[in-house]
Amino acid sequence: MMSTSVISHLDRGKWGKASWRGNCSGYVYRDIFQQLAPRTFCDPMVGSGTSVEVAAEMGIEAYGLDLHSGFNVLRDSILGAVGKPVDLCLSHPPYHDMIVYSGNVYPGEHPDDLSRCADPEEFMDKLQQTLLNQREAVSGGGFYGTIIGDLRRGGQYWSFQADAIARMPPDELRAVLIKAQHNVQSDSRRYAGLRMPRVAHEYILLWERPTRAVAMLSTLSSLAHAQQRRLRGTWKAVVRQALVSLGGEASLSRLYEAVAENAPERLAGRQHWREKVRQTLYVNDWFAPVERGVWRIA
Ligand SMILES: C[S@@+](CC[C@H](N)C(=O)[O-])C[C@H]1O[C@@H](n2cnc3c(N)ncnc32)[C@H](O)[C@@H]1O
Repeated sequence: MMSTSVISHLDRGKWGKASWRGNCSGYVYRDIFQQLAPRTFCDPMVGSGTSVEVAAEMGIEAYGLDLHSGFNVLRDSILGAVGKPVDLCLSHPPYHDMIVYSGNVYPGEHPDDLSRCADPEEFMDKLQQTLLNQREAVSGGGFYGTIIGDLRRGGQYWSFQADAIARMPPDELRAVLIKAQHNVQSDSRRYAGLRMPRVAHEYILLWERPTRAVAMLSTLSSLAHAQQRRLRGTWKAVVRQALVSLGGEASLSRLYEAVAENAPERLAGRQHWREKVRQTLYVNDWFAPVERGVWRIA
């Protein structure tokens, strides 16, 4: 059993293939299986087979699927491939193009390979679809999740885990575990002079599918609703901070300037952003009118 939310295994064990780039230690899967005690398990991106070998050894009925053996998580239903819902569906996708799989780790480039996305945004769209496919493959009360690392490139940092959490139903998230990353290739490179420390961890995100039947449409609408709420929250925060920077009270025209100053490229081409600022002022009790066209923090 895991005693804390931090997992660290120096050894990867005898399962799967040590030579498979970006493989995961079998001990990590063992920890997760001990914790969740699934009777049935599916890994839709099984790679060298680490997870299913550990599962089989623990007496868990396990299904391993992968693009390398003809299963495409972006086009095929996991539920359809397994034939019944499972208790746990855990994926370990490529971390965007950090390691390219098809046509590199194994022969035959494949356009739907998640390690062959044009940019991090395309990767995240595809990872979200993968997670929805996984969610559909588990029974009510079952768990779905992913093992994912973040990406730092050219000084920029993409937190795929943060994005994955934001894109899935918030009420289904059950755990965010940190997995220490050992022996990654970059260990051997020189890191002297870097301002930020080398990334040496990954995440294991676990969601639980509700027991009551929830239609896909209602999942989607709750996701869309959460996103709209976040967008409204962002407008509220931006407008309030603009007022703070103007001393707590300002005319609309000064407020527009302050908002535009902070996000010029985002607002360029958006015709209605001034309306959005006004609407934000009117509907939130964070703001109060002083006189016509002048607002203050409430
Ligand atoms: C990080 S590796 C998995 C490693 C595995 N956990 C292990 O220990 O060997 C990611 C896998 O995702 C697979 N993959 C990428 N795109 C896919 C897709 N569209 N459908 C199914 N599998 C995909 C790759 O073929 C690769 O084997």
